[in-house]
Amino acid sequence: MPNPQAVLFKIRRQASPNDKPLWEEFEVPHHYHMNVISSMMEIARNPVTRDGKPTTPITYDSNCLEEVCGSCAMRINGKARMACSALIDELEQPVTLEPLSKFPIIRDLAVDRSVLFENLKRVKAWVPIDGTYDLGSGPRMSMEEQEQAYPLSRCISCCCCMEVCPQFNEHTGFVGAATISQVRLFNTHPTGAALKRERLAALMGDGGIQECGYAQNCVETCPKDIPLTQSISEVGGAVIKQALGDLLRK
Ligand code: SF4
Ligand code: SF4
Ligand code: FES
Repeated sequence: MPNPQAVLFKIRRQASPNDKPLWEEFEVPHHYHMNVISSMMEIARNPVTRDGKPTTPITYDSNCLEEVCGSCAMRINGKARMACSALIDELEQPVTLEPLSKFPIIRDLAVDRSVLFENLKRVKAWVPIDGTYDLGSGPRMSMEEQEQAYPLSRCISCCCCMEVCPQFNEHTGFVGAATISQVRLFNTHPTGAALKRERLAALMGDGGIQECGYAQNCVETCPKDIPLTQSISEVGGAVIKQALGDLLRK
């Protein structure tokens, strides 16, 4: 008989990248306002499956517990989202938990998302201010510029936009929406714009912005409501302009 005071979980387990995945079920006592991470903490306190078999605690990534660090992304009831903001009372049961599917598995729900950080390095997604002396204060940004930049700066590198993107796969090598949006952010920053040409050049060719099919799954999934499709069309226009300009100068 299912326990009405308990929450039923179906969790995909995988001990290592070379092990076969398997499913385990857990019944966790219901608490007011519990979320997916607090439920896994509960399982860690008593790692026993629904049918009484002792097992190991679930491995997953998390840190801030307030949708800021981006580490707890996973598939919850089939949808890529953040586990710390997924309230159990708003989810259908059994609550199924699976790792993101497009990133190398580490163990259970933990995956290796370093491809995003490699992509950010590829497009130089930073403001170049390193130096051996004090550069002084940077140029002032108008309120309007700040308002445009702020939503873009909210990216938490969770990789949900890449997980749901049909173009993000090993065949295309597509960098994904988050990286493109960070190019927009740093290209509009008064000091960051120093690397604008290099960033746009990094988005040309294979794996670059041309791979985007404008399916818009990314913008619908982003937990921080980042205007990703606007970023894609703005950066896409700038890439074409730069490519044409370079061609005409030859
Ligand atoms: S618009 Fe579509 S193809 Fe382009 S990044 Fe977003 S999900 Fe991927
Ligand atoms: S753009 Fe949105 S979905 Fe993509 S990594 Fe950043 S916060 Fe996550
Ligand atoms: S734990 Fe940091 S975003 Fe979920």
